[in-house]
Amino acid sequence: MSDWVSFYDFKHSVIYVNARHRDVHYARIAEDIRAHIPSPAARVLDYGSGEASYADRIAAKCGSLVLAEAAPNVRAALTQRFADNAKIKVMTPEQVAALAPGSFDFIVMHSVSQYLAVAELEGLLAMFRHLLKPDGLLAIGDVVPARFASLFAAMALLRFGAANGFFGAAILGLLRIVASDYLRLRKAIGLSHYTAPAMIGKLAAAGFTAQRAERNIGHNQARMTFLARVK
Ligand SMILES: C[S@@+](CC[C@H](N)C(=O)[O-])C[C@H]1O[C@@H](n2cnc3c(N)ncnc32)[C@H](O)[C@@H]1O
Repeated sequence: MSDWVSFYDFKHSVIYVNARHRDVHYARIAEDIRAHIPSPAARVLDYGSGEASYADRIAAKCGSLVLAEAAPNVRAALTQRFADNAKIKVMTPEQVAALAPGSFDFIVMHSVSQYLAVAELEGLLAMFRHLLKPDGLLAIGDVVPARFASLFAAMALLRFGAANGFFGAAILGLLRIVASDYLRLRKAIGLSHYTAPAMIGKLAAAGFTAQRAERNIGHNQARMTFLARVK
């Protein structure tokens, strides 16, 4: 397991400042992902789904939904939470890699690219190309540009907190993040940053025609979402 996957495997990751933050975070992401689903019958993959508390809302708008998550505790919680939803399957990355070509109409990977080494991202894009139907859609969300990324992330969190009733908790949460493993890991392993042309270039090299979406999925509009189709 990579260090970032272990970091996200904690039940109460410091990334969410409180339960309200976690709740509105996943509600917003589910809403934004729903908007990209190409048809009611679409077979959808959310790769690196995290806790995906509102995956049922995504599933309600498509034919079936696979949640792929590398962190075992997060995966176990997802399996339990959505056990009664026939449209949702929870898988390991290895299980997803073994699926048949053309298994999905829509693949989304949100807020994961920054945790991947460049070669890992390249490997995943090649896998997504293989797993997508020829007319399928790929969305890579929350891509982090290099300049002032932490400052923009902190400001976006404070604004998100102010708009959703957890401003005080957001301030405390930022202080907790500063004191947490997040910064230590960021220093030791680093985060991957991409400009828009760099990410479009990566997608082109993997066989996609891509463009930056008008809005990023989620609350931080300093980050970017890319929509890509098989060339
Ligand atoms: C910030 S969370 C994103 C969760 C969710 N997609 C969201 O937007 O809230 C980052 C996710 O990346 C996953 N991740 C980190 N490094 C990874 C790797 N090397 N391979 C696969 N997944 C990875 C973690 O398990 C975690 O679920």
